[in-house]
Amino acid sequence: MLKIESVKVSYGAIEAVKGVSLEVRAGEVVTIIGANGAGKSTLLKSIVGLEPVAEGRVLIDGNDCTHVPAHKRVGLGVALSPEGRGVFPDQTVRENLLLGAYSRRNDKAFVEAALEREFARFPRLKERQDQPSGTLSGGEQQMLAIARALMSEPRLLLLDEPSLGLAPLIIKDIFDAIRQLRRSGLTILLVEQMAKQALGVADRAYVLETGCITLEGSGRELLDNPKVKSAYLGSH
Ligand SMILES: Nc1ncnc2c1ncn2[C@@H]1O[C@H](COP(=O)(O)OP(=O)(O)OP(=O)(O)O)[C@@H](O)[C@H]1O
Ligand SMILES: [Mg+2]
Repeated sequence: MLKIESVKVSYGAIEAVKGVSLEVRAGEVVTIIGANGAGKSTLLKSIVGLEPVAEGRVLIDGNDCTHVPAHKRVGLGVALSPEGRGVFPDQTVRENLLLGAYSRRNDKAFVEAALEREFARFPRLKERQDQPSGTLSGGEQQMLAIARALMSEPRLLLLDEPSLGLAPLIIKDIFDAIRQLRRSGLTILLVEQMAKQALGVADRAYVLETGCITLEGSGRELLDNPKVKSAYLGSH
């Protein structure tokens, strides 16, 4: 479903992603783990077209979309729930959700069905649909960010650090939600610093270190890998 070939992304003189190749097959949950500044968010942004790719290719369903602008890439079935959630605090829950279906805004039936689907998936958001999003708890805002990404009915969901800043019990809820999304048939690329939980939910995983993939394997293999254990699993 997604193939990245030797992708490089730079910020001026800083090369943040230094030739990364990876793939995500339909129905898989694939995780990328890595330390702060490894280039994880940059890589996800390049997949949805929010950072330009300097070299290499991004293929969705085998089609080269390396230079397709972000607003058109939504139509290819890919959506990003960004790091830090990106929720608009003064807008209501419902308004935030509607932004996720912006590219389909003229299709009222599609938008209504998408709202109902996400309200059914996250009943808490339905209860709070008319509240300003800034009044939600951190965990609820994360659910909102995920639901907003799902409003465009993507086939591939990119999740950037959905557990960031949340309490352990809430993190469990987030990972439960990810498992449920997988059961519903969604393909997921998950970036996480909670390496243990992320590897536990992943079919396959990659380790990204200073812009390069240094290890890959099944979630289980990486959980058992001594290097991964010492570098990423120590404190969780
Ligand atoms: N807009 C930007 N302008 C310049 N440099 C940037 C920008 N965004 C990221 N960088 C740099 O690119 C590198 C990769 O950053 P990125 O945010 O992709 O890492 P990350 O793996 O997501 O880190 P974290 O775990 O902290 O979220 C870092 O060195 C960072 O300082
Ligand atoms: Mg990041």
